[in-house]
Amino acid sequence: MIYPRQKIYGYSFFRQIKSLFFKKKYDSVKFIKEFFGLSKEYNINFVFKARIGLFHILNFLIKKNKNKKKIILSSFTVFDMVNMVLLSGFEPVFVDHYKNSSQIDLIQLKEKLNNFDNKVGAVLLTHYNVNNSELREISNICKKNNIVLIEDCAISIASKFNNDYVGKFGDYSIFSFGLYKFINVLSGGMVFSKDKEFYDFVIEKEKNWKEVKIYNLYKLIIKSFILRLMTSSFIFNFIFPVIRYSYKKNIKTIKKFFINDPNPHKKKIFPKNYEFKLSQTQINDVIFQFKNLQDQRTLREENYKTYSKNIRNKKIIFFHNELNLLNENAYLNFPIIVENKDNFINYMLDNKIDLNPQFYRSVNELSFLSEYSNVTKKIQESVSKLVTLPTYAGINKNYIYKVIDTINKY
Ligand SMILES: Cc1ncc(COP(=O)(O)O)c(C=O)c1O
Repeated sequence: MIYPRQKIYGYSFFRQIKSLFFKKKYDSVKFIKEFFGLSKEYNINFVFKARIGLFHILNFLIKKNKNKKKIILSSFTVFDMVNMVLLSGFEPVFVDHYKNSSQIDLIQLKEKLNNFDNKVGAVLLTHYNVNNSELREISNICKKNNIVLIEDCAISIASKFNNDYVGKFGDYSIFSFGLYKFINVLSGGMVFSKDKEFYDFVIEKEKNWKEVKIYNLYKLIIKSFILRLMTSSFIFNFIFPVIRYSYKKNIKTIKKFFINDPNPHKKKIFPKNYEFKLSQTQINDVIFQFKNLQDQRTLREENYKTYSKNIRNKKIIFFHNELNLLNENAYLNFPIIVENKDNFINYMLDNKIDLNPQFYRSVNELSFLSEYSNVTKKIQESVSKLVTLPTYAGINKNYIYKVIDTINKY
């Protein structure tokens, strides 16, 4: 059997329909505060997407201080996050990573802070498959320079750093409950902060936005249904030869269909179809899905560590360091760096192993962001050599060993 590169978590159409008739009332804020161990000062805003949370945060910051318009962030993210940065009036300053690493370069971060003097209002730190082992240092640099730290926990919910949940180290933190995330209500997110003024700002901003209804989500419902179907083990084994063929023949339209974040574009205005509030049904579903988070993370960790202990091919470089593995990370996937990526992908496909040719792009390489394309050579180089292996719960152990064996023979 061939396991697909990725799986869709959580969302169930039938559960959504059921919840329309049997309304449960969770105290969602209380639940989340207890789960994360948040103190009383914390406020939680539910939002329609994590990126909208970022948009609100940056709008709020710029309203308070118009002179601090620069935000330092990694370019290794989804392009629409940068659209939100630009639409809020901020200017992105991209910081590079260490070589073959999911971590931003601390020295460069300090340099950029110095270069842009008092213009930097925020640092956006994205947590990836593993959490940044220098999180404490980054947080201290921000505090020392009086700069807001925003944590992007879109793909790292319920992961920990130094025994505490990520999202509790910054001034604001965003989480995503989108289609590809561990908690999936098709579109959703939340923001943590201790700033009551910000909480009220979001309520005011969204006061005329409508609560999302099930029919507003119909495109995502269909997409989720198709993805579920295609990644079911039975169907996937029929689709796999098409994927393999499209790689061999370099058929771009089919290849594109299988990557996340496929159509990068610049947004000139904040989209009307982002102007929604999360519905109570979705919030209830978020809480419902929390119950699986820890167990699934543990299973992914087992798979991740099986790869890291047993892949022993000098041509393969891991996208983590040893310190990273001391934490309870989210382990969304197992990224590896390999020279001659296309060759490797074809080799794996020939051996009946599906893998993801893209984690994120380096968004500053996109033409519409060219004016912000600071030098981030190391992460760009990693992206050109990076593929990811599946870690999700439910993959048979023997299959993981087959993947490892195939890689070791490459
Ligand atoms: C790292 C990262 N940040 C932010 C986002 C945006 O999340 P949302 O789709 O909820 O806006 C994503 C989702 O793709 C992501 O992977």
